[in-house]
Amino acid sequence: MKEFKIGMNAKLDMLKFKNLGEEREKEIEKSASTSVKDSSLTNTLAGILHPKGIKVQVSHIVKETEDTKSFYLKPVKLESMPPFLAGQYVTLAVTIDGRTYKRPYSISSSPNSLEMYRITVKKEKNGIVSTYLFHECEVGSTFNLLGPFGHFTYQPLRDSKDVVFLAGGSGITPFMAFLQNQKFLEKIHSLTLFYGAKSEFDLIFKKEIDEICSKNKKIKVIYVLSEQKRSDYAYGFIDEEKILQVGVENKSFFVSGPIKMYFSLNEIFKKLDIPNKFIRHEIFREVPEDLVEQNFQLTIKMNDKTLTIPCNGKETLLQSMEKGRVKTLAHCTVGECGFCRSKLLSGEVKTEDSCVREADKEAHYIHPCVTYPLSDVTIEVPIK
Ligand code: FES
Repeated sequence: MKEFKIGMNAKLDMLKFKNLGEEREKEIEKSASTSVKDSSLTNTLAGILHPKGIKVQVSHIVKETEDTKSFYLKPVKLESMPPFLAGQYVTLAVTIDGRTYKRPYSISSSPNSLEMYRITVKKEKNGIVSTYLFHECEVGSTFNLLGPFGHFTYQPLRDSKDVVFLAGGSGITPFMAFLQNQKFLEKIHSLTLFYGAKSEFDLIFKKEIDEICSKNKKIKVIYVLSEQKRSDYAYGFIDEEKILQVGVENKSFFVSGPIKMYFSLNEIFKKLDIPNKFIRHEIFREVPEDLVEQNFQLTIKMNDKTLTIPCNGKETLLQSMEKGRVKTLAHCTVGECGFCRSKLLSGEVKTEDSCVREADKEAHYIHPCVTYPLSDVTIEVPIK
């Protein structure tokens, strides 16, 4: 049998490895036992990139369609808004009648221009915040903003250079940031944007999109109208046939739109054998269909306080907390960010499974923003 000799370098490595624990202990001993000052360079930089909250003022409002408006938000104290990646969102904290509601909105302005952010809001039926923004918010109104957050971004190492964007209705908003981002456009080879709406009057940013496309040959846009037939637009929904016309081979698909669109596109992706690694979804919330209108009590423990508020089987625990004026750390409100993560101490709940990690489920952690009560419930909430 052949004999292997251990060289000097390997022996030294083994010795180093043997002493690793001891050396590490010594280094830990030497390190400071007090926390790093807030004024350290790293903390200052982190504060600029990820501020804890930004006070913003509405500088102007543009009515885009019958039921959508864009709000331009400029910083009140900071010189500019924090940098963000195309596709990310911010959380707007809106106080109405003494209650604070937090809602995520994609940034629809360019990441190259940080003087202000543009968010675009669609008026939702029974939407407390969107109704307020649509009818009561005016130039000069101020809000607190959190973020930017989110992973609906283009990663050159992960995503293909041939990209297909699939937008439905107000789902076009994150794509507007991509279309105006020169760095992103330089990285890709081709971009096809399918944009579906009911009629040509419901297409938000059409003029802006057409202008961008006319200047960049890499971008092709296909408008799809579901309730209006016109010779210069595609008709129906964004379906398999239309997607196959642009080809699926080695393309990355980014989807942003209403929940029904996610489901129908997911079926198509499965049928076309498109691997998951080529599909990105904007955050979305799937509201369970079998919710029951029933009143319960929600008991909340935070720090050394306990309070009990009413909750309802048709509302998420977070919605009840907002109505009950309970301060929360929630950001995304759709189960993605984890900031509202709370411990379920007692009671039965219905939660959107896909939003909670297995380890959290085992340890009885829930996300109140996607959890509905089925009985009286007690939770422990993280509050800073
Ligand atoms: S607010 Fe983001 S997970 Fe609940």
